[in-house]
Amino acid sequence: MLISDLSASDRTWVRERTELLFGGDTVVSRDIVHVPADLPGFIAREGGERVGLATFKVEGAVCELVTLDALCQWCGVGTGLLEAVEKAARAAGCARMWLITTNDNIDALRFFQKRGYQITCVRPDGMQAIRALKPGIPETGHYDIPVRDEIEMEKPLDAAGPGWRVV
Ligand SMILES: CC(C)(COP(=O)(O)OP(=O)(O)OC[C@H]1O[C@@H](n2cnc3c(N)ncnc32)[C@H](O)[C@@H]1OP(=O)(O)O)[C@@H](O)C(=O)NCCC(=O)NCCS
Repeated sequence: MLISDLSASDRTWVRERTELLFGGDTVVSRDIVHVPADLPGFIAREGGERVGLATFKVEGAVCELVTLDALCQWCGVGTGLLEAVEKAARAAGCARMWLITTNDNIDALRFFQKRGYQITCVRPDGMQAIRALKPGIPETGHYDIPVRDEIEMEKPLDAAGPGWRVV
């Protein structure tokens, strides 16, 4: 698998994937509307085909993982992309990563917790306000679970990278 910077020629595809996954070309987090196709990010390719994408936004010493989308589940795509974003965040001087997912996304909750992320905030029924902005968000999500609550997760970034501790 090859991971490269999201380039101008990838942006139409990022828009298509965002439409498919989030019911529009935008993603809302903490009342901020992001357009993933306009953000920095990474693309994963296998045999020349795109198999995943990640977008992120750095603000000061904090990096938000805005989207992470693996077309091939359980193939290592998500891990590779997340590592690329965390590396970019460290290089940009970030001390912390954060992201938002939803209560139905059990696979993501498992995936991120196994990679050092902690649930830091739950907004019960938070998706109601987001649906007002984006009526395309489905009522039912993964495993037929109602898409209801927003869940924030965070991970501190060790400046020296995984496997090293600064003492
Ligand atoms: C959540 C998500 C990003 C995870 O990505 P993924 O590519 O499936 O994750 P990975 O394959 O890297 O890792 C998942 C597991 O598969 C395992 N795995 C990796 N390569 C594998 C392989 N070739 N064969 C079998 N298992 C493998 C990993 O070891 C990992 O196990 P662990 O979590 O117990 O360590 C993905 O499910 C997804 O895109 N979901 C939809 C969008 C989404 O919810 N995004 C996140 C919120 S914005």
